[in-house]
Amino acid sequence: MTSSLASHSETTLGSPRDLIDLVKYPLSDRSTTEYTQLVNTCRQQLGELGACVLPGFIKPEAIHFLRTEAQALVPVSYHSTVVGNAYLTPADATLPEDHPSRMVDRTALGVVAYDQMPEGISIRRLYEWDCLMEFLGDALGKEKLYRYADPMGALNIAVMRDGDYLRWHFDQTDFVVSLLIQDCESGGEYEFVPMIRSGDNEHLDKVRAVLKGSIEGVIKLDINPGSLVLFEGRNSLHRVTPIEGQTIRLIALLGYDTKPGVVSTEHLRYMRYGRVK
Ligand SMILES: [Fe+2]
Repeated sequence: MTSSLASHSETTLGSPRDLIDLVKYPLSDRSTTEYTQLVNTCRQQLGELGACVLPGFIKPEAIHFLRTEAQALVPVSYHSTVVGNAYLTPADATLPEDHPSRMVDRTALGVVAYDQMPEGISIRRLYEWDCLMEFLGDALGKEKLYRYADPMGALNIAVMRDGDYLRWHFDQTDFVVSLLIQDCESGGEYEFVPMIRSGDNEHLDKVRAVLKGSIEGVIKLDINPGSLVLFEGRNSLHRVTPIEGQTIRLIALLGYDTKPGVVSTEHLRYMRYGRVK
């Protein structure tokens, strides 16, 4: 009797419909006016800043499901430290020394890969829920989204401990969807400079200034555990400031693509997870 009650509560309370605040974010029925308003609000924020924060996306009383699962996975995370530039490209020695592509910094963090997450845990069920994917596609203005097909990269949990840091960089993808599960005591701020460059102008002077420590144009995203963040980072320089304190910052990264069947290269897998399969 006790065990059947326990398993019933686990399967019910960890489901996407019980995790997401569907009153605040009515994303489960695309035919409603409320859904259209929500999508329009997201598109407006993305249009203005290239970022959209949905605070309290996960109900405060449900965040502990995600936190407990993520904490249990921390021991299997793979930690790496990589030194590189903001463009995620090899430094070109023929360029002047103060060219931003020759300015390097450190990224240090741990990652739990998708294939390390047991089937049926809440974060997987959330990621694998078609309603969420369809809503994200609408909010991002994409015709259709597909879950990233990489067995390791589809869904990740970034594990950032004291001293870990994500350096200033531009993304090589159009958008990233993340969900903060647990915040650190201090540091770990998400900072970005909206549209600092464009497709036809690199604005090297502005990029150089930020890399050298200028705070002009830098915005801090106000994110709390349970906030869902949609971010377009291809032309917006961004970083996570160094983590301080003993509480680990845990953030889920939900991978989608506008094309089906997309996977990572073996090189990227090796760099990120320390293995290729
Ligand atoms: Fe990024």
